[in-house]
Amino acid sequence: MARERIATILKNGRDGQSLTINSWVRSKRVSKNVAFIVINDGSTQKDLQLVMDSANPNFDKLAQVSTGAAIRVDGVMKASQGKGQEWEIHVDNIEVLGTCPEEYPLQKKGHTLEFLREIAHLRGRTNTFGAVFRVRNALSMLVHEFFQSRHFQWVHTPIITAADCEGAGELFKVTTLDLDKLPRDAKGIIDFKQDFFGKSAHLTVSGQLNGEAMALSMGDVYTFGPTFRAENSNTTRHLSEFWMVEPEMAFATLHDDMVLAEEFLRFIFREIAERCPDELEFLGQHYKNMSIEQIKELSHQSFARISYTDAVKELIQSKQTFDFAPAWGIDLQTEHERFLTDQVFKKPVIVTDYPKDIKAFYMRLNNDGKTVAAMDVLVPRIGEIIGGSQREDRVDVLKQRMEEFKINAAELTWYTELRLFGGAPHAGFGLGFERLVQYVTGMGNIRDVIPFPRYPAGVSF
Ligand code: 4AD
Ligand code: MG
Repeated sequence: MARERIATILKNGRDGQSLTINSWVRSKRVSKNVAFIVINDGSTQKDLQLVMDSANPNFDKLAQVSTGAAIRVDGVMKASQGKGQEWEIHVDNIEVLGTCPEEYPLQKKGHTLEFLREIAHLRGRTNTFGAVFRVRNALSMLVHEFFQSRHFQWVHTPIITAADCEGAGELFKVTTLDLDKLPRDAKGIIDFKQDFFGKSAHLTVSGQLNGEAMALSMGDVYTFGPTFRAENSNTTRHLSEFWMVEPEMAFATLHDDMVLAEEFLRFIFREIAERCPDELEFLGQHYKNMSIEQIKELSHQSFARISYTDAVKELIQSKQTFDFAPAWGIDLQTEHERFLTDQVFKKPVIVTDYPKDIKAFYMRLNNDGKTVAAMDVLVPRIGEIIGGSQREDRVDVLKQRMEEFKINAAELTWYTELRLFGGAPHAGFGLGFERLVQYVTGMGNIRDVIPFPRYPAGVSF
């Protein structure tokens, strides 16, 4: 079956070229002498117009060509006389591969995002979601391009694990035990020795701990894969299943980590503007997204930097009233993050050196004994997009921190051994990939930047 994609045709096609195209129908307009059919096959933001003359012996086949139908067309490419498109296809023959009845929910334009979320299996056929998913694809490739060009090696870390990296307890259990007949010991506690792995296991919240082991053998590495969090957050920034990009560098400090994060994001902003101009222009027009110029401009600007302590001072001194009063020792709330990015700096900000009690056990304790070598990258509209740190590389301090956090040390002897056997300063971060897609596309809800979102009470499709 000849399978020419519309994106390729529009790029390489020649006047007078014969083509076979498979696509879905967006709309049909039939008049006495001629019919116009607009199609889109998902390869590009641009629709393609088909023109069919009523003298064509196949003209009566058009009766079955309705919005949403899948068709195959043989025709000839011609420079378009009409407005709004450079090319059109003059149809010789048309075959309906899949009819589409009137119940098709995408009959007209202008559905709400909420409605489209209910039909996630079809929403990829709209201009909006086609654009978002193509940008998502391009961003994925840019992640690999950036790290590969710097000789970071892509490592695959496990999805099933027995360790809790963030220590926040937001875990999805993985078990083959019969939930109706759980084996229990004398004290009534579930006996996970009888479970599949012989111990309690769950889906990973981050690939970092394994990533550290790989960095301490291969130097610079990154993971890019799905992570899972069972936090009951029904917000526009949280998913239960999301993708994370986690670089980890051996022989590196917090400073190196910040430089990497900034160069990474600025590379992405510059390149995505080049790769997806049609998509970004469409999203800019319809969703108050940044213009392509503004996205490009981001790549030229350095990020602001401020310590957590100074940021809290800034928040307290501001005239802004917050729902949640800022205070040293309390984690920055989304409203605080947004105030810093949208009001104070008006650009991405890196906040460093958070209090040790509100960050994870593995972050390197600073000399003040009160803060850790952490950094979060905050961006306008979204807030935190990256969280990272230099890692605690001193065995004794690490053990003490694990105790403070009541981390199951027995489960992490391998992690502690990394410090014992040729330990080295190292650092890394995690980028929430969907938050990046949100930032670049301007989509307000994180459920609209992944094809099939998972969230509390949401596992359809
Ligand atoms: O700040 P987090 O929790 O950091 C870590 O997991 C580290 N282990 C990363 C590392 O240093 N290797 O998560 C990293 C990022 C956040 O900044 C946020 O962008 C995103 O992951 N994130 C989520 N995205 C969508 N839904 C959720 N529930 C998210 N939780 C975190
Ligand atoms: Mg974080």
